[in-house]
Amino acid sequence: MSEPILEVGHLTRRFAGLTAVKDVSFTLGRGEVLGLIGPNGAGKTTVLSMVSGTLAPSEGTIVFEGRDIVPLPAFRRAHLGIGRTFQIMRPFPGLTVLDNVAIGALFGNTNKKALAQAREAARECLRRVDLHGRIDHRADELGGPDRKRLELAKALAMSPRMLLLDEVMAGLNLVEIDEVIDVIRSLRDEGLSILVIEHVMKAVRSLSDRVLVLHHGVCIAEGTSEDVLNNPAVIEAYLGKRKT
Ligand SMILES: Nc1ncnc2c1ncn2[C@@H]1O[C@H](COP(=O)(O)OP(=O)(O)O)[C@@H](O)[C@H]1O
Ligand SMILES: [Mg+2]
Repeated sequence: MSEPILEVGHLTRRFAGLTAVKDVSFTLGRGEVLGLIGPNGAGKTTVLSMVSGTLAPSEGTIVFEGRDIVPLPAFRRAHLGIGRTFQIMRPFPGLTVLDNVAIGALFGNTNKKALAQAREAARECLRRVDLHGRIDHRADELGGPDRKRLELAKALAMSPRMLLLDEVMAGLNLVEIDEVIDVIRSLRDEGLSILVIEHVMKAVRSLSDRVLVLHHGVCIAEGTSEDVLNNPAVIEAYLGKRKT
C-alpha cells in the first residue's frame, strides 16, 4: 500500500453510558477508497466526525499527512484538506445553491478568497454533480436527492485532499445512485483519498479498495469487499443472530 494519508489508532468515543466507538484503528492510503460499513448505530458517523474534527475523541490518535490533528478544530482540518459531507444535511436555507457551495470554496483548502472566484469554483463543482441547472434556487427549495448533490458539491468546493462521505446515496433512486457512483469514481481516478460510509452495497463493491466493518463500535472485519461481505460475522451483524 502507498504511504497512508490518514492513520487512525485506538480511537474511542464515549457518550454518557455508551461507548459508541471502541479501540478502532485503520489507515487510508493515498488515492485509496476505504468503505466504512456496519448496521445503524455501529459508530460510523462518530468515527467520521472525530476525523473531521466536529467531535473530540475520548482516546486515540488521528494522524493526517504525518501530523497529529486531534488538537486542531474542524476549520483548521478543513484548511489542511479534510472535506466531509453530513448525513444530516445542513444547507444555509436562505442562500442560493451557488452560494452554499461558494462558502465551501471560501473556507476550504483553497486560495479562492474572493467571492467571485469562489462562485466560479462553485459552478464547476455543481456541474460535476449535475446540479448546475439549479444554481439560482434557494437551497431549501431542493428536493432530497438534489440536497445530497449539494452536500457533495459543498465538500468538493473545499478542494479536499481527503474526502469523507457519509451516506451520500441514501434516498436516491437507482439511476441517481449510478450517477453519484460515477462522480466518486472520477474523483478516485484523479487520485483523491476517500473514506466512504455507505449502505448501498453496489456502491461499496464498485468503489472500495478495502472495506472496514463496524458493529457496536468495534471493528469486526477488514478486507476486500468480497471477503468482508461473505464473512459470517458480518452477515450476522447485518441480519441479526439466527434463532435456533
Ligand atoms: N452526540 C451523541 N450523544 C449521545 N449518543 C450519541 C451521539 N452521537 C451518536 N451517539 C450514539 O452512538 C452510537 C453510534 O452512532 P453513529 O456513529 O451515528 O452510528 P452510525 O453512523 O453507524 O449509524 C449510537 O448508539 C448513537 O445513538
Ligand atoms: Mg451514521
